[in-house]
Amino acid sequence: MAAPARGHLTGRLAGFGTTIFAEMSALAARTGAINLGQGFPDSDGPAEVIEAAVEAMRGGHNQYPPGPGIPALRAAIAAHQRRFHGIELDPDGEVLVTTGATEAIAAALLALCEAGDEVVTFEPYYDSYAACIALAGARRRVVTLRPPDYGLDPDALAAAFSPRTRLVLLNSPHNPTGKVFDRAELELVARHCRERDVLAVTDEVYEHLVFDGREHVPLATLPGMGERTVTISSAGKTFSLTGWKIGWACGPRELVAAVQTAKQFLTFVSGAPFQHAIAHALALPDAYFQSFRAGLQAKRDRLCAGLEAAGLEVLRPAGTYFVNADIRAIGEHDGHAFCLALPQRAGVVAVPTVVFYDAEDVGRPLVRFAFCKRDDVIDEAAARLARLASAGA
Ligand SMILES: Cc1ncc(COP(=O)(O)O)c(C=O)c1O
Repeated sequence: MAAPARGHLTGRLAGFGTTIFAEMSALAARTGAINLGQGFPDSDGPAEVIEAAVEAMRGGHNQYPPGPGIPALRAAIAAHQRRFHGIELDPDGEVLVTTGATEAIAAALLALCEAGDEVVTFEPYYDSYAACIALAGARRRVVTLRPPDYGLDPDALAAAFSPRTRLVLLNSPHNPTGKVFDRAELELVARHCRERDVLAVTDEVYEHLVFDGREHVPLATLPGMGERTVTISSAGKTFSLTGWKIGWACGPRELVAAVQTAKQFLTFVSGAPFQHAIAHALALPDAYFQSFRAGLQAKRDRLCAGLEAAGLEVLRPAGTYFVNADIRAIGEHDGHAFCLALPQRAGVVAVPTVVFYDAEDVGRPLVRFAFCKRDDVIDEAAARLARLASAGA
């Protein structure tokens, strides 16, 4: 067969090569460095939840489950939204189970955007957003969150909207910055949505990881937002089971039906036995969620202390699995080059935050480290990173 005149990849996906996580995890595997790049925990979630999955498999729940998700899980998701956020949902029609939040985001964008529509989102942004907006034939309009505090600039927000704006895609708690949007910022976003009759899609996968007594406020709970918001989350982060890929999209019936229309042609249905186990997980007592949060907060503090000792300027996160450091404090300027050299220099892998920015100048000196790791792994990484300080001294 003759070779095509250009690469095989469609123009819509031009520029979306291998994700940075795959690249950096491969670098970690190749060099034996400690991987603080990709955001996955290195210990498993609750044993009883894993047992529930085993039981579901042994109990014969191994064939296609219902398209919207098994009733027990949809009921558990609705109960979770009521328990933690005061959101009332009908499990029949207002809750859709997906293959991770990733699929819910893709299905929402594909279902809700016409070609040429605009999507307002915030940078640095989780990398699947740009790719899914492009797949939907839409265009991203990006509001830049600037270090050190990543505050929301009201003028930049207003400037991102246009008559073509279809929806706002908002992630809080926010990866990669660790920012937790506060009520006033969310109200600003909500006002634009209401005034311009724009939809919202929220990615809340870190909803249980907010630190120092802060609260996570779902955008859907603000006045006038419940009827125009698709709220997305997943079990991966909350239960340290990122490989199971059970997520969900909730909201008004018509929006959820639209998302389901796209979802059914992406994966049709999602992991049957895991759905049974996550129904069990979502019903765990409050104590589980509290101790999970306290544990991650302690890990945040542990890694922040290590990064500070290494001479980096730490941008202390309010939530999530991640902390960013500014490498200019040790005389470096280019986060990408720094991350490529870090396995050799210090035996640690991190992710250059610049890959999540369109405004590369803003993100260039930032590097993201994941702290969802065992304490001994964090301590060893900190000990290795201390070499940076002694090399610079
Ligand atoms: C902001 C954000 N959204 C979505 C995801 C993916 O979630 P899931 O594994 O449930 O697809 C991640 C995973 O890192 C994330 O950080």
